Parts: sequence; structure tokens; C-alpha cells
Amino acid sequence: MSTFAAVDIIRAKRDNEELSNDAIQWVLDAYVAGQVADEQMSALLMAIVFRGLTPRELSRWTDVMIASGERLDLSALSRPTVDKHSTGGVGDKISLILAPLVAACGAAVPQLSGRGLGHTGGTLDKLEAIPGWRAVLSNAEVLDQLENVGAVICAAGDGLAPADRKLYALRDVTGTVESIPLISASIMSKKIAEGTGALVLDVKVGRGAFMKDHARASELARTMVSLGEAHGVRTVAQLTAMDAPLGRAAGNGLEVTESVDVLRGGGPSDIIELTLALAREMVQLAGLHVDPAEKLADGSAYEVYRQMIAAQGGDPDAVMPVAVQREEIVADREGVVTSLDAFAIGVAAWKLGAGRARKEDPVSPAAGVLTLVREGDHVTKGQPLFELHADDTEHLARGRDAISGAAVVGDTTASPLPLLLERVAQN
Ligand code: URA
Repeated sequence: MSTFAAVDIIRAKRDNEELSNDAIQWVLDAYVAGQVADEQMSALLMAIVFRGLTPRELSRWTDVMIASGERLDLSALSRPTVDKHSTGGVGDKISLILAPLVAACGAAVPQLSGRGLGHTGGTLDKLEAIPGWRAVLSNAEVLDQLENVGAVICAAGDGLAPADRKLYALRDVTGTVESIPLISASIMSKKIAEGTGALVLDVKVGRGAFMKDHARASELARTMVSLGEAHGVRTVAQLTAMDAPLGRAAGNGLEVTESVDVLRGGGPSDIIELTLALAREMVQLAGLHVDPAEKLADGSAYEVYRQMIAAQGGDPDAVMPVAVQREEIVADREGVVTSLDAFAIGVAAWKLGAGRARKEDPVSPAAGVLTLVREGDHVTKGQPLFELHADDTEHLARGRDAISGAAVVGDTTASPLPLLLERVAQN
């Protein structure tokens, strides 16, 4: 292939010219090989933040990211494959219930996940609260578990889209994460490389989400759906509300306990509603004709969950670690809960020890927040609104500061927004 000068590619994007396929391939390959410097890639990424990528450029950018690593081949499995990706929300433990539920309906669910950073928790961090559970599996173990159990949640190996890892680390420190084409290429390159045949995207919108604005979230969803379909992955997105946290629990072990409650027939209604809505989409995309509500109600999903945890060394009956420090935050007046701020609650869980600021930081399995009320609830003065859990008084104090103002108690309440906001599929 011809070679280019990085500066010419940067200038072209800066001046809103369309980049050729060869230019995109060269610049990404040369960056991964260390021949294009971080400062040059940063300048190009910033130009893309302002100028965007055309559909052809985005498709090529994504192809090159996929080709930078291995692509799992799941074609030998006897079950249809379907996965879910969420853009991240507070208390979002849906994967822990959804993966075994959809497996119980007959699909194979390859959930290759990451760890949490900032105010939203990571699925692997939650499952690592279970004693003995192992996040890192070989490709052979993934295939074996998909065939025999039907669901696997594990760490995405270093071999999947390595270009994304290098680019994402750079975007994180150069203010270039917030670009719809760059986010789309980053998420979809990893999901396409994972080898799933179909994908449901849960794009969160609201205070506690990465995308605060409905119109931008909708554009992100449409971009990812088109990319998936263009790469042969049947893809549907649901835009879902993330103003208040999902369920009551935010924090690793607390979320495992709440997920098990749902799998055993209890749990909060918003978690059940969202899980079933996403499960129906997944089952349909997988070409199966099974009602997920039945598989949740008859205990089959719980049975698959137990097998999924045990297959990775975890004890499905283990009691979650209990926090040494606990404190209730109470209402300072009587009234109606007019708003719960998912972002503030997510930050509080993080400060209590459930999340990390840098990717190498440890997380506490016991720390987090239980939100004891829902929007619209009537509360009396002194009634507990939140229960904070931490391993020591220092973390407890940080969480207490962060939770202040997270619940507003007023006199009237607006009717709560629906959870499911928009469905995006290719026409
Ligand atoms: N998550 C990703 O994997 N990539 C992005 O660019 C943003 C969120």
C-alpha cells in the first residue's frame, strides 16, 4: 500500500476533506505500529470530533480496528449467538440476569466485557464480588461454556481490536471520547470481533448516562445499528432512561444480590421490565420463539446463572461480602421524592469504594449505595432514603459528601418518564 504523511491526513480532515480508504488504513496501522506519534493521532482525533466521519470513512475505520486483532469464530456452536451491549448506567446489572435468561431461551450469549471506570460500574467488577469467580478465560473455554451452558460473561481478551485499546487510552486524555463516529467504531469493532451473530444495544440517556441528550443518543444508536448491519451483525438498539438508578443497588456485591433476587422471582420492577424488553429483542434476533418471561418465572434462567457462575469457579450460593461501615441518609422533611439523581448516586457508590478512578485501582466487593425510595414515593421526615456501605470510615465520609442532594423531596411530582424511550432498527 502507498505510504502517506500523517500531517497531510490531519490537514485533510481539518479542512473537511473525505479521507481515502488507504489513508485510513495507513494511519491506523502506522499508529498501532508506533510509526505515527501520539500527538499526531491526537490532532487527527480532534479533527474527527469536529468534522465527523462519513459513513464510508466510519466503515473503513471500523474494519481496520477489527483487523488489528483476532476475530472469534463462533460458527461451530449449535445455538444462535446474540449479545447485548449497554453504554453504561448506574445500577445497571442487567447483563447478570439477561445473559442466563437468553441462554435459557436457547441462544448462546457471548458477553465479552470490560471493567468499570468512573461513576458506572463494570460487569466484571460485579461478578468478581463472588468468591472464586474467574473473569479471564481462554478462547477454548469461552466456546465450551457457550455450547454447554449457553452464556459466558468474561474479560474481552487482549487480542480483540487492540487498536481500540491504544486509541481509547489516548482519547481518554485528549478530550476526544465525545464523538459519535469514534464511540461507534470503538464499541462496534469489539462486538463484531467477538463474533456474535446478533446484537442488542442498550443506549442510555439522561443524567446518569454518558449521553445526556436524547437526540445525540438516538444518532449514536442509528450509527451503531448501521455499522453492525453493514458488518453482517443483526443489530437493534433501545434507548432507555438513565435519570434515576436502575433498581435499588449500586455497588458490586449489592448488585449481585439484587440480580439473584430477580432470577429467583423477586426484585425491583424496573429491572424486570428492562431485562424482559431486551431479552425479547435478543430472542427475536436469534430467531427463537420462546417467551423470556416464562423462563424467568419457571426458574430456568436462575439455573443457567448457577451453571454460568460455577463454570467460572464461582460459588453461586456464596453470601456477598458485607460492609463494615453502614450509614442511613434520611429525609430532612416530609413530602414526595421528586427526583433521584443517578449521576450523584453513581459517584457516591464510586467514592464509597465500589468504583475506580484509574484502571489499575482495586474495587471493594462490599461498598455501594442502596436507594430505599423511588421517584414519586411519599416520605416522612427522618425516613431513610439511602443506605451507604463502605469498608472504612474514610470512604464512608467521601460517599456521604457525594450523596448530598441526590434525592430531592418536594411537594409535587411530575409523572415519571417511561424506561423505554425509543427503538432503533434498520429500515
Ligand atoms: N465505550 C467504548 O468502548 N468506547 C467508547 O468510545 C466509549 C464508550
